[in-house]
Amino acid sequence: MEAKSGDSLTKIALITGVTGQDGTYLSKLLLDKGYVVHGIQRASSSTRTESKNESIKNINYHFHFCDMTDYSKIIRILQEALPDEIYNLAAQSNVQTSFDRPEYTAEINALGTLRLLEAIRTLGLEKKTKFFQASTGELFGNSLETPQNENTPFNPLNPYAVSKLYAFWICVNYREAYDMFVCNGILFNHESPIRPDNFVTRKVTKAVVKIKEGLQDKLYLGNLNAKRDWGFAGDYVEAMWLMLQKDQPDDYVIATGETHSVKDLVEFAFREVGIDIEWEGKGLDKKGRNASTGEILIEVDLQFYRPIESSLFVGDPSKAKEKLGWVPRTNFYELVKMMVKNDLEFAKY
Ligand code: NAP
Ligand code: GDD
Repeated sequence: MEAKSGDSLTKIALITGVTGQDGTYLSKLLLDKGYVVHGIQRASSSTRTESKNESIKNINYHFHFCDMTDYSKIIRILQEALPDEIYNLAAQSNVQTSFDRPEYTAEINALGTLRLLEAIRTLGLEKKTKFFQASTGELFGNSLETPQNENTPFNPLNPYAVSKLYAFWICVNYREAYDMFVCNGILFNHESPIRPDNFVTRKVTKAVVKIKEGLQDKLYLGNLNAKRDWGFAGDYVEAMWLMLQKDQPDDYVIATGETHSVKDLVEFAFREVGIDIEWEGKGLDKKGRNASTGEILIEVDLQFYRPIESSLFVGDPSKAKEKLGWVPRTNFYELVKMMVKNDLEFAKY
């Protein structure tokens, strides 16, 4: 099957996972750059685009209902959109959930990626369409190397990371076997005020605000010692775009190069609302008190622990800086401030 492309100077992008955090930031970025954007969302989307993605009001935005399991629909959408760039962001992206739903996670994250690549080939778009794959720092798992860069061996520790490992390598394979323009962005944690609250940053900032407002008593968390490299999603979608503007496809680590523990995150977020936290106890008995009132505000709950996980992630974004000119503009403290501020404003309504 050969698809015919138009002669327009306007670039056309297709984004899967457009209702998600990154899809929301990326669609805005591309529309602001003058792209025509096609977004794929599930008919059953739990987070309806209308609620948070302003892009759909733009006349250059076209949405398509499709599930990443539906190959024939993917083919039809690509045939209609004839995209110059595809950003594959759709995923079951929650690590904890992946232990509960490993098969579904593999179906969407691994085979969903394969379906898109195959659709490009089937339609004869290999020379027209550039492809970005949202890979993850979770590929490194319990790496012996710190910080992790593009040459660090992979050692995934959960079904999500294993599904993303397949996606990473099938992208490399299609790039090498079929000379396709395919890039992996090996993205470390990136957050924002629209991050869902089954991820720790948003869970913490929302709870901090509710506790401050007297709407919640305590915050229950899992592993407080885990260290993550947290950046701002708005910065990371720029890196995705930059990768597809290069002449040659490649893989890049996208990270801040700094790491902080969940405990640091909790302390800093509470400080933003004027509460200092004092810790006592160890392991599952660890508790965080309001230093002024003595009230216990944070406790550990086993249900939020994972069967296995890496205790330390920190990425080395040197290659992205050198080759893409990309640097993160928002540091950890600015990010947490931004999220707390947003949740405080939201609490007023
Ligand atoms: P997210 O907020 O969870 O968004 C995931 C998107 O995928 C949502 O739009 C979701 O749709 C869609 N989706 C899920 N299952 C689907 C299916 N079966 N068919 C079609 N669409 C489906 O994730 P994110 O934080 O924006 O991350 C974007 C990508 O980057 C993901 O691939 C993630 O794995 C990867 N990544 C993220 C980070 C991070 O820290 N944010 C780090 C490394 C890699 P609904 O709205 O319908 O649920
Ligand atoms: N979600 C959650 N909830 N995490 C908790 C909790 C809790 O109550 N308590 C402690 N944590 C710890 C987790 O064990 C983990 O070490 C850390 O907080 C971050 O967890 P998440 O925010 O759920 O993110 P993640 O690091 O597992 O995964 C995110 O980043 C990956 C890239 O490193 C996701 O966005 C993935 O899609 C992404 O690939």
